[in-house]
Parts: sequence; C-alpha cells; structure tokens
Amino acid sequence: MAKWVVGSAWPYVNTVPHLGNLVGSVLSADVFARYLRLKGEDVLLVSGSDEHGTPIEVEAKKRGVEPKELTDKVHAYVKKLFEEYLISFDNYTRTHNPVHIKFVQDIFMKIYRNGYIFTESMIMPYCPKDKMFLPDRFTVGRCPYCGAPDARGDQCERCGKLLDPPDLVNPRCAFCGSRPIWKKTKHWFFDLPRAAEGLVEWLERSSLPDNVKKFTLNWIKEGLTPRAVTRDNKWGIPAPFPGAEGKTIYVWFEAVLGYLSAVKELDEKNGTNLFEQFWKDTKSRPVYFIGKDNIPFHSIILPALLRATGEEYPLPYNISATEYLMYEGQKFSKRRRIGVWIDEALELVPNPDYWRFALIRMRPEERDTNFTWREFYRIVNSELNDDIGNFAHRVLTFIERRFGGSVKGKVDEEVKEKIRELHEKFVEAMDKIRLKEASGYVLEMARLGNKYLNEKEPWRLLKEGKEREARDVLYTTLFILREVALHLAPFAPLAAEKLWRMIGEEGSVHERGRLGESGREPPERIGKPEPLFHKLPKDFLEKVDQLLEEARRKVEKRRPI
Ligand code: MF3
Ligand code: ZN
Repeated sequence: MAKWVVGSAWPYVNTVPHLGNLVGSVLSADVFARYLRLKGEDVLLVSGSDEHGTPIEVEAKKRGVEPKELTDKVHAYVKKLFEEYLISFDNYTRTHNPVHIKFVQDIFMKIYRNGYIFTESMIMPYCPKDKMFLPDRFTVGRCPYCGAPDARGDQCERCGKLLDPPDLVNPRCAFCGSRPIWKKTKHWFFDLPRAAEGLVEWLERSSLPDNVKKFTLNWIKEGLTPRAVTRDNKWGIPAPFPGAEGKTIYVWFEAVLGYLSAVKELDEKNGTNLFEQFWKDTKSRPVYFIGKDNIPFHSIILPALLRATGEEYPLPYNISATEYLMYEGQKFSKRRRIGVWIDEALELVPNPDYWRFALIRMRPEERDTNFTWREFYRIVNSELNDDIGNFAHRVLTFIERRFGGSVKGKVDEEVKEKIRELHEKFVEAMDKIRLKEASGYVLEMARLGNKYLNEKEPWRLLKEGKEREARDVLYTTLFILREVALHLAPFAPLAAEKLWRMIGEEGSVHERGRLGESGREPPERIGKPEPLFHKLPKDFLEKVDQLLEEARRKVEKRRPI
C-alpha cells in the first residue's frame, strides 16, 4: 500500500484566512486525506503557519510589534479555527519551530556542499529613510509584464508572474513610499537551472493536471535562472553558509521544506520513524493542495531543492492547484472588506459541515468560481436538507413508526447496481482530485433514494397488505442511506457520523478502510431518528448582510489581528 503525504499550502499568518483560502488549500487537502483514510491508505496530513518573510514583517511593522509576537498570536488563533472546521491534520505546525529551522539549515548545507550554491553581488533597492534593503514585498511598483500599478517585489498579484524588486517600474518603499536608492549587497544563489535538469522530462511524462503542467512548462521555457536564497532580513531562518552571517533564507525556499520537517517533528515528538517511511521512499506519494499562484514553488523549486541534496526523495505525485474563489463577483479584499473570513463564517452559521460541503460544491476546480449567498442558501437548504436530510428522515421515521425500528428485506438488485456505478464514479473523481464532481455523486445517491421511495410508495404497499414488498423497499432505502453516509464522510464528517449511527451502524463511519465496505447490507435495527440538518431561515438572503455585520463585530473583539 502506498504512503501518502498530503500537504496544503502554509498560510501566512499576517491575516486570518478567508473562504477562498480555506477551499483552495486546507479544506481540499482535508477532504482528500479523509478520502484516502476511508480507502485504507496510509496518510499524513501536514501543514502549518508560514511565519517568515516580508508579508509578516510588513504587518508587524504596521502594528509596531515584533514579528514573533504577531505570529504567536495569529498561529494559535488560526490553528484553533482549522480545528473548528474539522481539518484532520496529523501535524499543523509552524515554520519558526526549532525542528524546521534545523532541518532547513541541514538541507541547505547539503546543497551547498554539493556545489549548487554560489555567491554574487547584487544591486538592490535600499530605503535611505528606513535605512534598510527592500527585498520582496518591501518594494512596490508597476508590474513590467501586465502594468498593474501596485505589484509587489516578489510577485504580481494580477498576472501571477514572479518578480524581483529591480524588475518593478517606478519602485517605492512599502513602508514610507520613498524612492529607493541602489546599493550593492552580496547574496547566495541556488543554481536552479542545474538542479532542475531532468525535471522537464519528468513533467512531460507526469500525470499532473493540465493547468499545473502547462504553467510549469511555460515557466521553464521562459528560461530558468539562478535564484537568490538569502535575504538581508533579520526575521527568518539564519542562512547557514560560511560568511552569510546576518542573512536569512528566502521564505519560499524554506517554507516548502515544511512538508518534510513537519513529519520529522512528529518523529521527534513520538519516537516514530515516519520520515523514513513517508519521505525517504521514492514510491511514496506527496500531494499538494495550493492556489494557482503557488504552482512553480511546488512543481519545480521544491523538487529541485530535494534533488540538489543528492538524496532520493519522491517527486510530487499530484498537485491540485485551484483557481480563485470570488465573492459575489468581486475579488476577496482585506483592505476593502470584500468577502467572508473563516472566523466570521462560523460565527454566522455555526456548523462546519455546511461550510465544508458548500465550499466544495463551489470549489474553483477549473475556473474562477463565484461564491454567492444565493448559492450557499441553495446548497444548504436544497442539497443538504432536502436531498439528503429529508430522505434520511423519511426512511428512518417510516421504519420507526411502521416497523418498530427494525426492518429486514431484500435489497433491490437494480438499486444495488446503480449505487455501485455511482460509487465507481465517486472513486474515479476523488482519485483525480475532482472533489466537487465527487460530491455530486453523493447527492445523486440521495436523489436516487428519494425517487425510489416516491415510486415504490411503501405506505400504499402496506395499505394493500403487501408487507413483504414494503419491507424490501424500506430495506433498500436503508441500504442507500448507508452508502450516502459512507460517501458523505470526507465532506461533512459530523452529519455522516450522525447518519451512520441513526441507521444503526456500529463504530465510526470514519474508520480506516471503511469505503471498502461499500455495497454491504445495512443493519436491521436502526437508531433514533433525528434531523440531520436544519434549514437556513426563509429570510436568510434578505438578512444576510446585516447578520454578517453582526458576526463581524463579534469576531473582531477576539481576533488577534
Ligand atoms: N505562505 C504562502 C501563501 O500564503 C504559501 C506557502 S506554501 C509553502 O501564499 F509550501 F511554501 F509553505
Ligand atoms: Zn522607506
């Protein structure tokens, strides 16, 4: 059996994630990891806070606090939120932890000793007023590619191109707006072109999704160049190279190594040897869940870094890069307060299953997708409540009232066959990480059940004295319910577990390997029927703006940022 490391992009802790961040990385990774466990695979789900880099320093400066003070607080806050969203991390850690710091320094010394690191003088922007170099996001200016007026020195948000501060047209200091002067500084470079040799062949042959493949091959075609791995920042991981005292490692070059160090950290805590099993076996399967702007770091830089150590590590088995989630037709914007942040969402509708399911239904798998309240309302009220919840309620209360809570019959062969087909489609979609598509098959199962019940009219059968036929019908719908619970488990863990118990099953629906029990007959005696979901009130859509405002006010009081 394969070993899977499922990783989700490490969120910068300069802010609280919004719904788009959640579905783009952490939630999708969790759904996939839960699915793999359900299949019986060996999985580690890891991620953590990205604590270093200019995004953090900019925010800390703005607030007049030390970066560490900021990241301590936001890390604790965000970590707890992910728990509330039932993200089943094996390790959700942070990049300022000692295991990560040492791991990164060791890796870079190996790369250095293997001759992939060289020094070069560079002319970098320097702010005469703040008396500091302006790497990455410390410089802002016009994007030389698309002309966006406020591109940052590391990347243009609009066109996604990776940049260096000297690329910017009309550069300014991000803190005081001054025009920088140019000063010489020495930096340590990573020989990316040499380390990436052979990766094109791998990419072309790989079964990575088209968007990832295309973006990466394009990026390579434009020409790989050596990349500076050091920065003149104090906050970060000290560069371990001889002579590089006072410099730190560029945030992207260390954060991606967190997928490995997070497993190391587990070993150090628990005395296990997961690192050997999950990371030192080229047959194991790392899978990354990221937003599209993070592609080259996962498809090229990380593999190239690992290759340059001279040791053998598995290449990415899959990379799921989502497009963007929009909010009512606009881009999420912290500055302009457009969008919903994950703490506000739970304050407004305090059921993680609703958000999880709705976000996966709106997952921007192939193109940018719009989050609308209308769609959220429809998914909760008609998909979760009507299609799944109502079906469960109809079946279970019928069995309770008319059969004293116990029914046994023959499962309709045609239904069994249709469920088997839906199960296969579900597995195929999940394996290809088409999570939104897969969630649709769960709904199809439930709709099949509702339709079956309506057509067979067991209440009529009972009236006509056809008790045995009525039993067969109810037992068949119970069979469908069991399948709904099994396949719903990765998306809506609470509801799936509740449904599992209500149909009288034992243990947890989330038990490893449970999906292998698809097609089995349900137990005879059901549990106590209870509503699975609750509808959003009829006037939800009219009131939502006001409700959101109230949720915001409450959340703001406890937010560290
Ligand atoms: N912190 C980055 C972001 O929020 C993502 C880092 S992913 C990692 O865009 F793998 F490099 F950590
Ligand atoms: Zn300045």
